[in-house]
Amino acid sequence: MSYRPGMPAPADIADAVAALQEGQLVILPTETVYGLAADAGDAQAVAAIFEAKGRPRFNPLISHVASAAQAERLAVFDERARALAKAFWPGPLTLVLPVQDREAISDLARAGLETAAIRVPAHPVALAVLEAVDRPIVAPSANRSGRPSPTTYCDAIEETGAFAAAALDGGPCEVGLESTVVAVLDDVRLLRPGAVTRDQIEAVVGPLAEAEGEGDAKRSPGRLALHYAPDAPVRINAEAPREGEAYLGFGTPGPFSLSPTGDLREAAANLFRRLREADRSKPTGIAVAPIPTEGLGEAINDRLKRAAGFVG
Ligand code: TXA
Ligand code: MG
Repeated sequence: MSYRPGMPAPADIADAVAALQEGQLVILPTETVYGLAADAGDAQAVAAIFEAKGRPRFNPLISHVASAAQAERLAVFDERARALAKAFWPGPLTLVLPVQDREAISDLARAGLETAAIRVPAHPVALAVLEAVDRPIVAPSANRSGRPSPTTYCDAIEETGAFAAAALDGGPCEVGLESTVVAVLDDVRLLRPGAVTRDQIEAVVGPLAEAEGEGDAKRSPGRLALHYAPDAPVRINAEAPREGEAYLGFGTPGPFSLSPTGDLREAAANLFRRLREADRSKPTGIAVAPIPTEGLGEAINDRLKRAAGFVG
């Protein structure tokens, strides 16, 4: 692995664990995207994350833990939550549940809500860190607020590396899209489409309720309309590029193709990386081919609509 010039060498796991225990921030690889991590119970450390990302404080963070058993000490699990955890953990599913341990997951981490978002990531480096610290670790995507999520060590360092005491290199993220966020409260509700598809979740708990619309700040506080955005304007559902535009194809070749063979899994893994690469070529705009809406396509289209600054 080679690093871009001027980039710090990655830390080892013991250094990252020590930094977290001292209340510092750490760049942490997961299977979805790179996170900017801190101890969820340390209000000062959590405040530093909001600061580093320029993130609005009404947008709560996900707590990462090493096991479902650890998660059960932090939040209230019913049978539906247990079934989902059993089916998808470790993996890219986040459960929003009634909070139980308000010290371990600070008020600031929850943005004052009485619910906590929790997941067990499926990445060996993340799991090694979480096992060693044995505390819930908040880790929003390591981008500055509103920008595409980083899916490589170098991209994470470029976004928020300046704020981290240590950074771990876990290779390029296999999934490339953030976790699916599901609230298991009065009903089971999809708050953010993601790497685990709607069909996969419904196979476990039956039909999902919908988030109550984009303005639903109470249930889905972080779903801002302009998000995941590169510097160049993004045009979606584009059959072909216009003069000066970089083109993210699907099912066609090309330097920024999301998947030459039209494979949704490959397109998900490439999405944020290609948006960044296209942006670096300083185009007048970035045009993206139509992406099918089924399966993983739901989450890909969700991110693209937000990158384009329009939701609907
Ligand atoms: O894949 C992922 O989930 C990555 C990796 C690093 O684990 N993390 C991530 O975190 O995407 P972040 O902070 O970028 O997104 C967290 C999402 C936001 O949409 C936030 O509003 C929602 O989860 N969320 C967190 N706590 C919540 C709560 N108590 N109720 C409703 N939504 C919540
Ligand atoms: Mg994010």
